[in-house]
Amino acid sequence: MTILDGKTTAQAIKEDIAKEVKQWVSTGRRPPHLTAILVGHDGASETYISHKESDCKQVGITSTIIRFEQTVTQNEILDMIFKINADINIDGIIVQLPMPKHINEQAIIEAIDPDKDVDGFHPVNVGRMVLGLPGFVPATPDGIRELIRHYNIETKGKHCVVLGRSHIVGRPMANLLSQKAYPGDCTVTVCHSSTPNIKELCLEADIIIAALGVPLFLKANMVKWGAVVIDVGITRVPTSTSSGFRLVGDVDFDAVAPKCSFITPVPGGVGPMTRVALLKNTLKAAVLHQK
Ligand code: GUN
Repeated sequence: MTILDGKTTAQAIKEDIAKEVKQWVSTGRRPPHLTAILVGHDGASETYISHKESDCKQVGITSTIIRFEQTVTQNEILDMIFKINADINIDGIIVQLPMPKHINEQAIIEAIDPDKDVDGFHPVNVGRMVLGLPGFVPATPDGIRELIRHYNIETKGKHCVVLGRSHIVGRPMANLLSQKAYPGDCTVTVCHSSTPNIKELCLEADIIIAALGVPLFLKANMVKWGAVVIDVGITRVPTSTSSGFRLVGDVDFDAVAPKCSFITPVPGGVGPMTRVALLKNTLKAAVLHQK
C-alpha cells in the first residue's frame, strides 16, 4: 500500500510554479494577480482564504482579498465583480463559497469573466471542460488528476466510482475521468444520496473517489483488495484541542488502507493538491491575459 502524499507532491509543483512565475516576471511583465471575495466571517472560509493568500505569496503571485459583511447585497457583490472583470491588472477572481442565503450564488458565478474564472465554476468553463476544450478546471478534480499523474497510477479501462455529485468535485471529477485522456479512460459510476446499492458498486471499483462530506463513510467492507482510494472529505469534527476541531475524511482510513494499492490521507492528501491547482490556474490566466 502506498500513501499518496499530497503535501510533498504539492510542494514540488509549487516550486515549479515559483520558477515559472520568476521567469515570467523576468520578461518585464507584472506577476500574476488573484483577487478573492469573501463574504462574512465563516471560520472554514477564513482559513481557506488565508491559505490561498499565503500560497500565492510563496510562489510570487500577488493577491488581494475583498471582504464584505454578511449583510452585503447581491448587487454590491455584482458591481465589484464587474469592476474586477474590467481591471487589466487582475488575472483571476474567486468568490469563496458558500455565500449567505440571500445571495444567488449562480448569479455571482455567472457574472465572473470566464477568462478570469480560476475556480472553473462558470458555465462556459464547465462546458469547455466537458468538451475537452482549453479552459479552467475546478481545483479539486484538477489536483486529484495531478496526484494520479505524479504516482503514475493506471486509469485506462478501470472502473471508477465517484461518491458525490457536487458541482465542485463529484461531477467534474466523473466527467474528467471518463474522457479519452490520461488520467481518464475510466468507466465511471456516480453514486449519491439516492443510490440504493453503494456498497455493491464500491466493491466493484478499481478507483474510488469519496467526495460526499460524510465522515468515515467508506468502510473496509466496501472496498476490494488493491483498490485506489482518494478521499476528498474534510469535515470539521469538534474536539477539545486548541483549534477546537479536527479534520475527518470520508474514508475510514485505518481500516481501509491495508486493502488499498494507493490511498490518500486526510489531512495531507487532496487538500494541498487543491491549493496548488488554484495557483496553476492563476498563472495560466496571467499567461492568457498578458500574451
Ligand atoms: N468553497 C469550497 N470549495 C471552494 C472552492 O474550491 N472555491 C471557492 N471559491 N469556494 C469554495
